[in-house]
Amino acid sequence: MIIAIDGPAASGKGTIAARLARHFGLPHLDTGLLYRAVGLKMIDRLDDEDLPERAIAAAEALDKSDLDPEKLDAPEVAIAASRVSRIEGVRAALRQFQRDFALQPGGAVLDGRDIGTRICTDADVKLYITADPEVRARRRTEQLQAKGRPIRFEDMLAQIEARDEADRNNPAGAFYVAEDAHLLDTSEMDIEAAFRAALAIAEAALDGRSGG
Ligand code: C5P
Repeated sequence: MIIAIDGPAASGKGTIAARLARHFGLPHLDTGLLYRAVGLKMIDRLDDEDLPERAIAAAEALDKSDLDPEKLDAPEVAIAASRVSRIEGVRAALRQFQRDFALQPGGAVLDGRDIGTRICTDADVKLYITADPEVRARRRTEQLQAKGRPIRFEDMLAQIEARDEADRNNPAGAFYVAEDAHLLDTSEMDIEAAFRAALAIAEAALDGRSGG
């Protein structure tokens, strides 16, 4: 069983994906970490002319040890990720890694931006998780503050809006809601309610597929 979860930054998709994975006993891949890892490797070279070549090489050489979430959660790394994610060769290099993860026996849960539209177009369940930018900025500010990495709400909101805009216009991306995705807006929900809603959608979709 493959569950594909897409949506913008801090929409709740990562937490929902992790909890659905635990619920169904499936492995989980946060695909944002792949782009963040490439972004971090390129963070001092973002304006270099040879960024595409170097970023593609970094994506091709990516190793599981590069994917430590604790080292990749800084807002600057997210911005760098958004920059390198516009390079088609980077997306191509990371595509196989994601597909291999999805196709492991038993299946998997993947969350990102183009899982339902590009990576796992045949996923058993597709969810698109969203929330208002203010709500997402508040959540991300609180998450970082809880880790002792203070950031102002206004700065986070500006950054989330800029990243949304860059992602929406990503020439190499497919960051739209898949036709067969179930939409879930978590703006008015806490994480428990969001997980319950996502689980209900997933179970109904799976029941539908098995004719139950
Ligand atoms: O989800 P997260 O905030 O970690 O993603 C960081 C950036 O990586 C996104 O803003 C997006 O530009 C890029 N990304 C992507 N495709 C994915 C996941 C993330 O292009 N599947």
